[in-house]
Amino acid sequence: MTASKRILFTGGSGKAGRNVVPYLADRGHQVVNLDFKPLDYPGVTNLVTDISDPGQVFSAMATHTNFEYIERGTGVAAFDAVVHFAALLPFANPDNAVFRVNTMGTYNVIETAVRLGVPKIIIASSETTYGVCFADGRIDPVSLPLEEDDDINPMDSYGLSKVLNEKTARAFQRRSGSDIYALRIGNVIEPDEYSTLFPMWFENPEMRRRNAYCYIDARDLGQIVDLCVKKDGLGFQVFNAGNNTNGINISTPELLRRFFPGVPVTRQLGENEALYSNRKIRDVLGFKEEHDWRKYCDG
Ligand SMILES: NC(=O)c1ccc[n+]([C@@H]2O[C@H](COP(=O)([O-])OP(=O)(O)OC[C@H]3O[C@@H](n4cnc5c(N)ncnc54)[C@H](O)[C@@H]3O)[C@@H](O)[C@H]2O)c1
Repeated sequence: MTASKRILFTGGSGKAGRNVVPYLADRGHQVVNLDFKPLDYPGVTNLVTDISDPGQVFSAMATHTNFEYIERGTGVAAFDAVVHFAALLPFANPDNAVFRVNTMGTYNVIETAVRLGVPKIIIASSETTYGVCFADGRIDPVSLPLEEDDDINPMDSYGLSKVLNEKTARAFQRRSGSDIYALRIGNVIEPDEYSTLFPMWFENPEMRRRNAYCYIDARDLGQIVDLCVKKDGLGFQVFNAGNNTNGINISTPELLRRFFPGVPVTRQLGENEALYSNRKIRDVLGFKEEHDWRKYCDG
């Protein structure tokens, strides 16, 4: 049984959040969701908040969210953890809006959390920091598997915003001592997407080259966030958040041969071991994958 934590979650109504927030709530955590849209889930309370407005973010972290809390008459309880997922994604907004909302939104959330003494902050970074996903044209990764200490050098605004957010997180960790963990999240897959997306990708595996064939089941992402909430004392950390194997029905040696000829391979990889390495979350956090794609569709 998990010790219940009071968690402020931003972006909990989006694709990833609407799976991760229920995962956390089902394990006994009290979650307050900051988003433009509320998430309707038992036990979760919502505050409509614009994270690009620092005043709103500061006020939201000290605002009552229901009668139960005001009935206690003890003021607004502190948060044990902040999980920051709210962001603008590429393609739907101009590049500079993506950059502004993602960088300043993250600054606002981390600064407020640190000033209020929140001891654990988890932010959504991205696979796109490695630079291949949203590159203009088809480029090679510097090496494979993609690992957390690789040089990150994206050319797009979204990937760049996530690189900056990791720097912001690192700087605030140094000055505050709060634990701040950045999750380089892979392509998030919701339970109902296996039957539609994976068969399409099996027909055209080139489509997934930009993601280095990675995926993260949205429920397994919930487990990773929960493990981060529980794991204290690591300071600033970056973790790739991906599943154990590649999200395609082609072996790892065959993927390397067909799609990444000439890319240096830095260590021996298992038959289906992910090119988007999740070794660190397994070793450091104790992540145990529960949702291999093979449970949900035929290879
Ligand atoms: N979906 C993926 O495959 C993927 C991969 C890597 C990283 N990520 C990252 O994970 C996080 C969640 O991604 P997602 O797929 O759920 O995105 P999403 O677009 O589905 O959800 C983002 C949520 O943030 C909210 N939001 C946006 N701007 C806001 C603002 N100014 N104030 C308050 N709320 C705001 C939106 O209303 C939305 O509910 C993001 O940080 C994203 O960059 C996602």
